[in-house]
Amino acid sequence: MTALLTIASLGGGYGALPIFRNVAFTVEQGQTIGILGPNGAGKTTLLKTIAGLLPAQQGEIQLDGLELQAQRGHARARLGLCLVPEGRQIFATMSVRENLDLSAAAARFTPAQFKTALEEVLALFPRLAERLDQMGGSLSGGEQQMLAISRALLLNPRVLLLDEPTQGLAPIMIQQVMTALKALRGRIAMVVVEQNRDFLRQVTDDIFTMTAGVLSAPPQTAKEQTHD
Ligand SMILES: Nc1ncnc2c1ncn2[C@@H]1O[C@H](COP(=O)(O)OP(=O)(O)OP(=O)(O)O)[C@@H](O)[C@H]1O
Ligand SMILES: [Mg+2]
Repeated sequence: MTALLTIASLGGGYGALPIFRNVAFTVEQGQTIGILGPNGAGKTTLLKTIAGLLPAQQGEIQLDGLELQAQRGHARARLGLCLVPEGRQIFATMSVRENLDLSAAAARFTPAQFKTALEEVLALFPRLAERLDQMGGSLSGGEQQMLAISRALLLNPRVLLLDEPTQGLAPIMIQQVMTALKALRGRIAMVVVEQNRDFLRQVTDDIFTMTAGVLSAPPQTAKEQTHD
């Protein structure tokens, strides 16, 4: 059976400068994998390359058997490979509702489809439902992360790529993001990049480690790591 997402011999960086090399992993339908690594390991560069925001230097990226190298970021998102970027990157001077509307436009929803999709997302993040008319920039860090995840979910992803979703968040907000990811687990395949090992143990099936541009293989399971 073909994996949902297949990454093989992938290398990438900036121009001719290599940052990561020979990265290989697969993500099955409904599987969540974690990538743990310190500052500068190349995690964001890897996720941006998979999402099509940076060109790969070598290797393969396949979604459900379809080679994606020729597809740009927006085309990959439309095929179901969606990035929740590092640092949230929501629109600060637009309301929560407008931020969500933009995703709906990109997903080409009919109004009825949008209404259903929005209801599902707001059920996952009730805090956002109370703040639909608030400006994105006035949300707390945790609420902005919820909005960033919601924006990606409205693109109807098959694989969600999350770049450090707990970065800079207070413990209570980390808990809320964790609850949402646990609810999504099994329904959507996910790749979660983090520096927070405890968070990854809670929300992923397997954890890879990235050090200086090299991904560990084979993965340790999150379950095995709980007795470290
Ligand atoms: N635009 C760029 N041009 C050149 N080098 C870059 C660029 N962006 C990042 N780098 C370098 O690539 C390396 C990997 O950075 P990257 O952001 O992928 O790391 P990371 O693992 O996501 O780190 P963090 O945990 O701090 O987010 C770093 O040495 C960084 O300085
Ligand atoms: Mg990063």
